[in-house]
Order: sequence, then structure tokens, then C-alpha cells
Amino acid sequence: KNIVILISGRGSNMEAVVHAARSEQWPARIAAVISNKADAKGLEFAQAHGIPTAVVPNKDYATRAEFDAALQEAIDSFSPDLVVLAGFMRILTAPFVEHYEGRMLNIHPSLLPLFPGLHTHQAAIDSGVAEHGATVHFVTAQLDHGPVVAQAKVPVLPGDTEDTLSARVLVEEHKLYPYAIRLFVEDRLSIVGGDVRIADTVN
Ligand code: GRF
Repeated sequence: KNIVILISGRGSNMEAVVHAARSEQWPARIAAVISNKADAKGLEFAQAHGIPTAVVPNKDYATRAEFDAALQEAIDSFSPDLVVLAGFMRILTAPFVEHYEGRMLNIHPSLLPLFPGLHTHQAAIDSGVAEHGATVHFVTAQLDHGPVVAQAKVPVLPGDTEDTLSARVLVEEHKLYPYAIRLFVEDRLSIVGGDVRIADTVN
């Protein structure tokens, strides 16, 4: 299976996926890493690991529709079976999302449906929840919604700041995202009535 990973910055989740795909010998390859920012740190890692990269700068396009069309063309040139959003900081148009329906995953740093959108760690601290975490979900047209594949939880501790809490969540993200993507490439995920079902065994 061909996986195309979209990033905008650091790319630590992309790194975790690349490492897991190789060390666990998934029936998949990372076909490309694509960024909307030319200076995304993660591009260096991808290049150093021999993974094709592409940049589709959103600032070069007047509208979201034009950007998404160019992005889709770049992605589809790698014939993806799965598109992985890994810190990709753009809101996507409905036609783009529909084109990848059932084959695009995102990781969001909260226990959805709690705290969609930005600044999730501060929101968790401010709201006084005892637990926080991360969610991998299929992408649907509604931001940070869509069928949930898996979640990882961490405690919110007294004295936590955005930095300490986000670091605790990130450690879990780096395990959760490879786990979820592996389920997809092993054909173990299906969506039934809007919910994700996970098959016990590899088909
Ligand atoms: C992660 O916290 C992810 O959940 C969120 O953006 C961050 C990306 O980090 N969507 P990285 O680029 O993978 O290091």
C-alpha cells in the first residue's frame, strides 16, 4: 500500500510512522511526504531517509479550492491508498475531503469530541479535566470529527503547563498513530454506521 503523509512543520509523528513502517515491515511504503510549507523541518528527515518530498505552498494560491486542487494533484501523482495528516495545519475543502473519503486519517491532540480546533492542551488545563490525550480519526468534512480509530489517554497533573502536557501527549501520539495506520494497511479497519470496527486478525 502507498501512504502519502502531509505535514506543515516539525513532523515528529511522520518520523514515528516512517520508523514503525520500516522496523515492523508493514505491507506498505511511505510513497511521499508533502508539505504546504517549504521550511517544514520534517522535510529534511524525509529526504535523509530517501522518501520523495513535494511542497505545495498554500500562499501561492488565491483560494482554498485552488490550493486543494493543486494539493490533490500532487498527492494523487503518488497513487496513495492512504493519506495521513500529521500536523498538517490547513482546513480542507469538502471536495478534497470527499475525494479521500475512507482513506484519509488525522491525529488530533485531544480526546475528541472534547477540544476540537487549536490550543487543545491549554483548553484541557483550563477546563480542569483529569485526563487528556490524542485521537486518530478518519477525516470528514467537519473539522476534527469523523469516525474514531483509536485514542490514547494521559493524566493531567497538578502544575501542568501547555508544554508539559503537550510533551506527555506527544509521547503517546508517536505510538498511537503508527498503531492506527498499521491497522489500516493491514485492512483491519471498516466503517459501519459511522463507527470504526477493528478486525481482530489480519485478513
Ligand atoms: C501533533 O500534536 C498533532 O497531534 C497535531 O499537530 C502536532 C504535530 O506535531 N495535529 P508533529 O509535526 O507531528 O511533530
